[in-house]
Amino acid sequence: MIGGLSAEALEELIRTESEKDYLVVDVRQAEEYRLDHIPGSVNVPLADIQFDPYMFETGRKLIFCCTRGIRSKVAAIFVADAGHAEENLYHLRDGLYEYSGEILLDMPRVDRFPRNADPHATLETAVNFEKGAFRFYQMAKEQLAGTDLLAVIEKMSGDEIGHARSIFNEMQKIQASETDFKTYFDRCTGDILEGGKYFEEIEAVIRDPDSNTCMDILDFAVELEYSAYDLYKTMAENFEMPEIKAIFLRLSQAEKKHLDQLILALDLCTE
Ligand SMILES: [Fe+2]
Ligand SMILES: [Fe+2]
Repeated sequence: MIGGLSAEALEELIRTESEKDYLVVDVRQAEEYRLDHIPGSVNVPLADIQFDPYMFETGRKLIFCCTRGIRSKVAAIFVADAGHAEENLYHLRDGLYEYSGEILLDMPRVDRFPRNADPHATLETAVNFEKGAFRFYQMAKEQLAGTDLLAVIEKMSGDEIGHARSIFNEMQKIQASETDFKTYFDRCTGDILEGGKYFEEIEAVIRDPDSNTCMDILDFAVELEYSAYDLYKTMAENFEMPEIKAIFLRLSQAEKKHLDQLILALDLCTE
């Protein structure tokens, strides 16, 4: 398991461990790193780690950090997947916000899918998550109008409707609904995203005039897509019905592709 460190635990580690035994890797973009970073940390943006997850020497602790603990977690997973021993991998759980003494909102989390839920109810929840992702990308489209990122974001929002539609089609097979897809989708609230955050709390951060909108959007998007990937992959394992297993596997593949595209898009954020 990849260890999540609190800010205090990281400070303690930096104070007590010998330098040769650990490395703090800041996975944010170079511009972000230049503004401020943990003393002694090296900067290797997430996209570079994805490109070459074998770059780190083995045998010492690697502690990944980023703004909110999202990109750092993904970085640690890439490196773990490349064969680096997980007991040497850590990430700064709540990110540099917490490290620099700012307090993040205590975000309520939901149990995303109730255990042993019936398949129809599970698919309904999944459509609602897709609606949440769609709403998120609609908001992102407004905020990123005129930037190089718009095309990427537009593609994502279109894809999320496609995901919702394919889940809806499976629902129809189990229990036909009276409404067509469009009416059903319009009625979905999409108020909770795959990562378990409420749409409103993300909206508040993104619309905050003091925030780095582009990077905030991509941070949340990476979290959303990573959670969607993780969630669908797990759902595929949880279901016996082959049709439902297949659809969740297909969705997890699609969300993983979104994650890849977003990581490449980090380079387009130039605020
Ligand atoms: Fe999706
Ligand atoms: Fe997605």
